[in-house]
Amino acid sequence: MAVDRLAEFRNICAPLFSESAFPGEQLAAAHQLFDLLSGIVGYDDTAPTRTEVTDIFLPTGKAIAFQGAARCLWEYARTSKFLRGVEAALREAQRRFPGQRLRLLEAGCGPFALLALPLACRFEPGEVGFTLLDVHERSLSAARRIVETLGLADYVEGYVRTDAATWRCPEAKRPHVVVSETMQNGLKNEPQLAITRNLAPQRLPGGLFLPEAVALDFSLLTHHRDNNEVPISRSHPVATVFELTPDNPEAALSGRITLPTPLPSNAIPVINTRIRVYGDICLDENECSLTIPIPIRTLPVLAAGQVLDYAYLWHPRPRMHFSTMATG
Ligand SMILES: C[S@@+](CC[C@H](N)C(=O)[O-])C[C@H]1O[C@@H](n2cnc3c(N)ncnc32)[C@H](O)[C@@H]1O
Repeated sequence: MAVDRLAEFRNICAPLFSESAFPGEQLAAAHQLFDLLSGIVGYDDTAPTRTEVTDIFLPTGKAIAFQGAARCLWEYARTSKFLRGVEAALREAQRRFPGQRLRLLEAGCGPFALLALPLACRFEPGEVGFTLLDVHERSLSAARRIVETLGLADYVEGYVRTDAATWRCPEAKRPHVVVSETMQNGLKNEPQLAITRNLAPQRLPGGLFLPEAVALDFSLLTHHRDNNEVPISRSHPVATVFELTPDNPEAALSGRITLPTPLPSNAIPVINTRIRVYGDICLDENECSLTIPIPIRTLPVLAAGQVLDYAYLWHPRPRMHFSTMATG
């Protein structure tokens, strides 16, 4: 039984690891995987329980509940690029730590431990062990159920129910690779920054942390129609206002920018999010919900040469905030 389901799991996951799979194949795989894993953990997306939809508001941001975390799987470009990134990071860690069994920590694993368990399709249990961490009990117990049902217990080092933004990892368990996808576009609402700040320094020296960089750009979005009347949107980046990297998680959170002269006509100010998951594996504008531009509603009227102040407010409700200064 476990063998059949494991074989099914492996077959379904294959396109998600493939750089050459068609988007439609990955979309289909994401839905098949959602159905398989929901069935294993007894989840009905059309009739979730109260627990399954109740987010937890932590001091440094929102930990989304089971339903929201499970549905992340449907974002197949995100899921595929993170999985490919984790695999590449583990291969690099094998080069950096030859002969060692690697420890992979998925911080914010959600109900499907989606950025760890599929790696069982690519590595042997002697090569890598997973620590699965989440603050939601229902999500963590679902991940455990999947491990048991698929016969993946040999891969798992532990389950930790805690706040990833404050957890201290036991010295002997420090991970070789950490992955955390606890963010929305614009690094709003969820605690990616606080988790990166807490966990990146706890990886082993020479260890890896994914995503490798999350950059927020202040951009001007314009719309026009081409010769065939097809609407076209274009982002004009003005400045990168914040970049979160594991090696520099204390980067400056505030600053000032000057708008260009002249301004593109009818430009809408937006925050663009660029995510470098690992190496050259990146999520670009509009590739998934995490990289959809966010209109900046606090800036209704723009003027050429105008000076703007910005600050990333990282708790309790993370967001990038812009305000206007007097021109000149
Ligand atoms: C966006 S979901 C991602 C789930 C899964 N890793 C994936 O990529 O599909 C984020 C998960 O992180 C968890 N989470 C967010 N903040 C957390 C925190 N501070 N401590 C522990 N878990 C957290 C949420 O409960 C949720 O399950």
